[in-house]
Parts: sequence; structure tokens; C-alpha cells
Amino acid sequence: MTVGGGRSREAPVLTLDGPSGSGKGTVSRLVAARLGWHFLDSGALYRLLALAARSRGVELGDEMALARLALELDVRFTGGEDGEEPQVWLEGRDVSLELRTEEAGADASRVAALPAVRAALLERQRAFRQGPGLVADGRDMGTVVFPDAEAKVFLDASVGERALRRYNQLKRKGLRASLPELEREVAERDARDRGRSVSPLRAADDAVVVDTTSMALDAVVERVLAVVRTAFPEVKG
Ligand code: C5P
Repeated sequence: MTVGGGRSREAPVLTLDGPSGSGKGTVSRLVAARLGWHFLDSGALYRLLALAARSRGVELGDEMALARLALELDVRFTGGEDGEEPQVWLEGRDVSLELRTEEAGADASRVAALPAVRAALLERQRAFRQGPGLVADGRDMGTVVFPDAEAKVFLDASVGERALRRYNQLKRKGLRASLPELEREVAERDARDRGRSVSPLRAADDAVVVDTTSMALDAVVERVLAVVRTAFPEVKG
């Protein structure tokens, strides 16, 4: 018998999927801050795994060694409640900047194509689902990791626009960047993420697709919050 006639309900989840440079990261953080919800940057986990593999001399194609490493990865996220980028720690070392380089992104995309790696990271990602709620940012949040999420958004934008956003982001951080190179890298990473056999990048059938190519950041945040309010009328944000 269920005491009180109620049913225990898992914490609400908003999934935000899309290709790199779609604005997902920034939008997810701002939406999480507005709602006061937790934030899962799933891409950071793939980036961290690749970084840990490189520093331990594990080959990026050695699927079983990488899956083992994924299970024991010592990572920590601190700060970020205000919508800023959180600091990321790998084995006690601050790797926040290293993590955002194009090389780290390309490495992440290689290890992310391995099925045993994705399986090893699955429970770790689901553990982020805690009250009052979770904003989950990635490629397969709505399709594989949280298929039962009530609110799902897929953010997209043209390749040119996404490369330009990455360029500006890297410049702001004082990192080296070339626009034509970024366009090529964005297109290559897209092809790999969309074309892989396991958890390819695609919008969940029940996701709201938002093309952000000519939208200002504020407008995207409001659009996503509107999706959340429709799914959870009781939520303020
Ligand atoms: O989002 P971010 O650029 O940090 O992700 C880096 C790479 O990690 C992506 O290009 C993708 O290959 C992989 N990834 C993934 N599934 C996720 C998040 C990221 O395959 N949920």
C-alpha cells in the first residue's frame, strides 16, 4: 500500500541537446541558475575522460581501458550557481581552461563514439538528477540518458554561426583561434557526432527544436524557460 496515496516522483529534468556551438552550454547554465536547478555538463565528462586518458598514457582507441577509467574518474564541479562556468577539477587539479580547448573537444568526440565508454558514464550522469530539478546539457540527454524527461529542447544553428560563436568564446578566454579552422572542425565534429552508431546526435521525437541562428541569447533563454513552464506549470523562473 502506498502511504498517503502518493507516488514518489523523480526530480524534474530539462534536457538540452544540440551540436557544439548551438549555444547549449551558456543557455543551460543560465536556465539552471534562473530555476535554481542542478546542472549536468555531460560533454565535460567526455572531455575529462579524454584528458585523464592522455595524462595516464591510455590510448584514445582502447575502449576497455577507457571504460574502466570512466568508472573511477575523480572529478568535481564547483561554483556556477550564478550561471557562470563552473570550475572543473580532475584528480584535484583545476582543468577548467584545458578542458575547453578544441583539442579536448576533438578527443572527447573520439572517446564518446565508443559504446563501453558511454555505458560506463550512464549511471554517473543519471546521479545528477536531484531535487529541486536538473538541467542536462549534451547530445543524448533526451534520447538515451533521460528519455523520460518531461521537458526536452534541441538547440540548433548553422555551421557558420556556430563556428563564429566558438571563435568569440575562445578569444574572450585569451585562447588561440582561427575562424576557417573552426568552421572545418565544427563540421567534422558534427559529422562524427551525428554519424556514429551509438547514441548519435539527434533530436528526441518529443523535443522542441529551436533554431538559434539569428536569435539573441536572452530570447533563447526565455524560449527554453517557456518550454519548462509548459511542462511544469508550478515552476517559477
Ligand atoms: O558539449 P561538448 O562540446 O563539451 O562535448 C564534447 C564532445 O563530447 C562532443 O563533440 C560529443 O562527441 C561528446 N558528447 C557526447 N554526448 C554527450 C555530450 C558530449 O557524445 N552527451
